[in-house]
Amino acid sequence: MQRKYVLACETSCDETSLALVHIREDFSVDVLFHETASQVEIHASFGGVVPNLAKREHQKNLPLLWERMSAYLAKERICPDIMAVTVGPGLEPALWQGITFFSDIHKTLYPDIPLVGVNHLEGHLYSFLFHELFDPASLDTLFPMVSLLVSGGHTILGVLSDMYTYTLLGETKDDAVGESFDKVARLLGLPYPGGPQIERYAQRGDVHAYPFPSPLLHSGDYEFSYSGLKTAVLYHLRNVSGDSAQSFSPGKQITLSDELSYDTAASFQYAAFRPLVEKTKKAFEEYSAKSVVVSGGVSASSFLRTYMKDTFEDTVPILFPPFAYCQDNAAMIGVAGYIGHMKGNSYPLEANGILSLSSSRAL
Ligand code: KG4
Ligand code: ZN
Repeated sequence: MQRKYVLACETSCDETSLALVHIREDFSVDVLFHETASQVEIHASFGGVVPNLAKREHQKNLPLLWERMSAYLAKERICPDIMAVTVGPGLEPALWQGITFFSDIHKTLYPDIPLVGVNHLEGHLYSFLFHELFDPASLDTLFPMVSLLVSGGHTILGVLSDMYTYTLLGETKDDAVGESFDKVARLLGLPYPGGPQIERYAQRGDVHAYPFPSPLLHSGDYEFSYSGLKTAVLYHLRNVSGDSAQSFSPGKQITLSDELSYDTAASFQYAAFRPLVEKTKKAFEEYSAKSVVVSGGVSASSFLRTYMKDTFEDTVPILFPPFAYCQDNAAMIGVAGYIGHMKGNSYPLEANGILSLSSSRAL
């Protein structure tokens, strides 16, 4: 069986990550080396990712991670077969850091192997291969597979008919679901990234305390929208803060009771996840799918995992990546780079901040 060692690099947002994955023709994968330097704490005080700070941190972290990775390669006497680097979507100054760093290594050390440009979204899409229960022998039984990709920048529903054939069904018209968690967290005075904070608060609250709207829930298509929900939470907080004429805005110091914050978080979380779960179910039925995969940073949510599992019959495989592979990481870029390479596809080695899945050529 053909097997490849793939060296991978990810710098699209606020994680600098390098990985070495060993992947076989049947898509079974071993992660041999994987290190991620997270910038979350640096950006937290700004309430979101600052592009130039991210660029500077990638520039600082890449050589440090590479030092350890090259020591590993030398010790294990491994020669990579493919190099893979994220080219988009993401923050272009951040993406360029990874592209130029990997291009230099390619030119200097491994000029004879392919250097493949990777779509970050395909990385998330294929991260179900890291699932502990993934069994290559039964891969074919998982198709058609409904794929829900939920992160800070994307909310995309699609169907994978096989490992290479993807149909996009719908995506968000405005904010991404993760972005709405980050914005509502700010309204509640919670730090970035908002998702885990909201989930922590929501565990103590009542999901039915406030009936926030779930936009496009009954739209009959596979589109999503999150800016209206965020605005509904803003108006709700204005009202309950006692002075409806007062303009409640992020950063404005007002004191919310713990109970109000917990109930707001729980009700918002439920309203945000309802369209995701219900439209995933609708797609599952319409496309006679055999499995569901949920990926991206938001797939780390335990509430979403339980909600999704409770909605489907026990017999339906619902694959979430292990927690370490939900957030941005280079191992998933290695897998997507390998799959792109097998199809003879590579994205151009230049940063493309708005690369999407619909324009995906590797699929
Ligand atoms: O995939 P990711 O690491 O980066 C992007 O490519 O965007 O996703 C980060 C996003 C953030 O918006 C964060 O708030 C959200 O994932 N997130 C969550 C949870 N954990 C992380 N959202 C909801 N619930 C969570 N438990
Ligand atoms: Zn991501």
